[in-house]
Amino acid sequence: MKNDIFAIAIDGPASSGKSTIAKSISKKLGILYVDTGAMYRAVALFCIRKGISTTDEDAVNSVLDEIDMDIETIDGIQHIILNGEDVSDKIRTQEVGQGASDVAVFFNVRERLVEIQRNIAKEESVVMDGRDIGTNVLKDAQYKIYLTASLEERASRRYAEYVAAGENFTLEEVKAQLAIRDKNDMEREHNPLTKAEGALEIDSTNMSIEEVENAILDYVQK
Ligand code: DC
Repeated sequence: MKNDIFAIAIDGPASSGKSTIAKSISKKLGILYVDTGAMYRAVALFCIRKGISTTDEDAVNSVLDEIDMDIETIDGIQHIILNGEDVSDKIRTQEVGQGASDVAVFFNVRERLVEIQRNIAKEESVVMDGRDIGTNVLKDAQYKIYLTASLEERASRRYAEYVAAGENFTLEEVKAQLAIRDKNDMEREHNPLTKAEGALEIDSTNMSIEEVENAILDYVQK
């Protein structure tokens, strides 16, 4: 890392509010927001489109060289470009989210994406969110946050997003999907989701977005 730049690492389970918070914090501090989940989602989307099972490690590994990924920031919003196509909206489905959790288990996928993530953070100050940012990608980050919320609360937030996006799941289905994602992300062999040593833990179950934002800004500005 260059001397004058810093990093804020935000990790936590699916739908804990990481990206909402990371986006607003990055805006307030005038630094780059990097959503690493979007990169795993782009790999999953590529595989799904090719008809490759996202749980088939050999098949996923065999197409990694065909994937060219670019991150662009337009008006403070991250866009993910997959082989020249802006897929930022197309990666936000339940199917792609689960596929991302599947491909994220594979060592080669992680190695490739972590390299891109570290290169971005070498150049400028970032707020980066994901599952292994404070524990692995940016182990030396000056600020580390572990953002959680109860499964019930996360399911109801995700359910509301799906209703808005026209995806047809019941609240119970969404809760079951999140429980599978949690298990996958927390119990995998390579860089599972866990709280980084020294990270500030925030349970946002009963907090507003503003309250979480203020807690993080207090911590960073102290
Ligand atoms: O944050 P998200 O829901 O967009 O992430 C999708 C999946 O990608 C998540 O279930 C696990 C994986 N992921 C990861 O393994 N490491 C990261 N740094 C970010 C996401």
